[in-house]
Amino acid sequence: MQKETIRILHFSDIHVGTLLRHIHWKKWFSKRAVGAINLLRGRSKYFDEVEEKMAALVAFEKENDIDVVINTGDYTALGLESELELAKALVAPMMIPPQRYVTVPGNHDIYVHEANSHYRFSEQFCSVLQNDLPEYCAGGHFPLVRLVGEHLAVIALNSAKPNPWPWRSDGHIPTVQLRSFEKMLEDPRLEGRFLCVITHYAPRLASGEPDKRLHGLHNADDFLRICSRIDKGMILFGHVHRTYRVDIPEVSIPLFCAGSATMEGREGAWIYEVDKEGNLKERRIVWKGAHYQTVSS
Ligand SMILES: [Fe+2]
Ligand SMILES: [Fe+2]
Repeated sequence: MQKETIRILHFSDIHVGTLLRHIHWKKWFSKRAVGAINLLRGRSKYFDEVEEKMAALVAFEKENDIDVVINTGDYTALGLESELELAKALVAPMMIPPQRYVTVPGNHDIYVHEANSHYRFSEQFCSVLQNDLPEYCAGGHFPLVRLVGEHLAVIALNSAKPNPWPWRSDGHIPTVQLRSFEKMLEDPRLEGRFLCVITHYAPRLASGEPDKRLHGLHNADDFLRICSRIDKGMILFGHVHRTYRVDIPEVSIPLFCAGSATMEGREGAWIYEVDKEGNLKERRIVWKGAHYQTVSS
C-alpha cells in the first residue's frame, strides 16, 4: 500500500445477541444466567437492529475507500459460539483481502471463565490475527502488530479477561504484554510510523478521568506511561458506549472511544485519515435511521 493518506474505519461494541431460545441451558454458567436475565429485562432491545445496522456499516465502508478497519471488541452479548459466528458473518465482508482488519476481543466475547473462551474468539477471527512482528507476541495472539504501507502501524493489546462476577466488567493488560509493547517501541521497523494503539478497555473517560474500578482498565496509568513515548499516533478503544475524543496531559497523542456502532440512540464510530507526515484528521460517524454518515467531529 503506497497511498499518501491512509483511511481507517474504527467501530466497536456491536453486541450481537442470539435469541435466548437458541441457548442450550446446560451451557449456562452463573454469570451467563445473570447476563441473560439482564438481556431479558431490556438491554437487548437496544441492539435489536444489529443485523440491519451492520449491513449499512458494510455498505458505508465500501463507499468510503477504507484502507484499514479496526474493531475494538464486544462483538457479542454473552460470548456464545452462536453469537461469535453471527458477529463474524456480519463483519466478514470487511475482512476480505486486501482490506486490512485488526481486532481485539472485548470482555463480553470471553464472558465467563471457560477454558476455551479465548480459543472460541481466535477460532472465529483467526484469519485476521496474523502478526507482522510475531517475536513480540507475549501470550495468545498479543501484542499483535500490523504494518500498513510505509508510514503506519497498528499495535493491538488484549485487555479483556473473563469476569467471574456479574457486577464486574473491568480489565487489565497483562504485564508481559506491556513489557513487550515497551520493548517494541524501540524497534527500528516502527520508527517514523504513525502508531494506532488499540485495546478494548478505555484508559480514560470523556472527562479525562479514569473509569470506575469495577468497569475500567486497572493498569491504565502503566499503559499511558508507555504510550507517552509515542509522538505520532493515537489510542483507540471501545467498552464505554459513547463516542468521544479526549486529549489528556499524560500523553501527547489523542484518545478515541468508538462507543457502540449499533446501540440504539448512541450509534457511533470514527473515520481517521493519516497522511505521510503523520497528520491526523478525524470524522465522527453517526446513524441516520437507515444509513451511517460522517459529521465533522
Ligand atoms: Fe460493550
Ligand atoms: Fe466491554
